[in-house]
Amino acid sequence: MSAPIIRPLAELRALIRDWKSRGETIGVVPTMGALHEGHLSLVRAARTSCDRVIVTLFVNPRQFNSSEDFAKYPRTEHADAALLGPLGVDALFVPDGDEVYPPGHATVISVSGVTEPLEGQHRPGHFDGVATVVTLLFNMTQADRAFFGEKDWQQLQLVRRLVQDLKMPVEIVPCPCVRDEDGLALSSRNQRLSPEGRSRAAALPRALFEAARKIEAGEPVEATLTAAAAELEAAGITPVEYLELRDGDTLEAPQAGRATRLLVAAWLDGVRLIDNVAVNLP
Ligand code: PAJ
Repeated sequence: MSAPIIRPLAELRALIRDWKSRGETIGVVPTMGALHEGHLSLVRAARTSCDRVIVTLFVNPRQFNSSEDFAKYPRTEHADAALLGPLGVDALFVPDGDEVYPPGHATVISVSGVTEPLEGQHRPGHFDGVATVVTLLFNMTQADRAFFGEKDWQQLQLVRRLVQDLKMPVEIVPCPCVRDEDGLALSSRNQRLSPEGRSRAAALPRALFEAARKIEAGEPVEATLTAAAAELEAAGITPVEYLELRDGDTLEAPQAGRATRLLVAAWLDGVRLIDNVAVNLP
């Protein structure tokens, strides 16, 4: 049985009223669909810690940098509902664009600081789109807990900041990145890789993990990252937009004694891949 698809907000709100009146907790997993094991791991985490689970499916036009990328984004709603049914999802909320952003919609949520480097440099406006839609999704679902993947590390830090700053009554639960056997982080965009590109893509996590290992072993950061970026370019994973070591929370320059993250964005076959890994500075 597929998960029940709910489109009108009024219908979702009626369900939520009913659940809340019985004291049930609500978990939400925001997605843009084309679901894979990464998304499903978030749903399983929600299922084990909440009485009710809502998965949202909305391909948010405001977070895309090109209309071409938005148009090409995979849309597999019925397959998604079928994957979610056996996991015990209570509602797959698929709002209409016009209900999310009705004519006259004029509010943009913008988080500074954490959104500015890396993705913020290369995808102007992207994080305003994410912060705005995440706020809307939290308001629409009234969830007690929301589940986000560490795959999108900078997005996760943005959501944490947003919730803290606006005192939103929702707990953010981070979930580990799910990878294919060859190490490539699962992503809906991987479907757009050619078979040949897909087999070359494993070079990305390999170079990332190797660079992290070298930095942890005390090798110089700059030289290690330059060599790793050159390796990616040589493997046809090009251009490398960034490969940088950052503070794990603030995304500012790394500091000894604080959690540190190595983050990368690079292109393969016209597909933009991102990934990240923890680094324990020596
Ligand atoms: P989307 O790319 O569909 O991802 C939805 C959620 O799944 C995000 O929290 C993302 O980090 C997580 N995810 C994706 N791939 C994963 C993987 N391999 N392992 C673990 N988690 C993974 O991220 C978005 O959508 C949107 O920006 C959204 C938050 C829904 C706002 O529109």
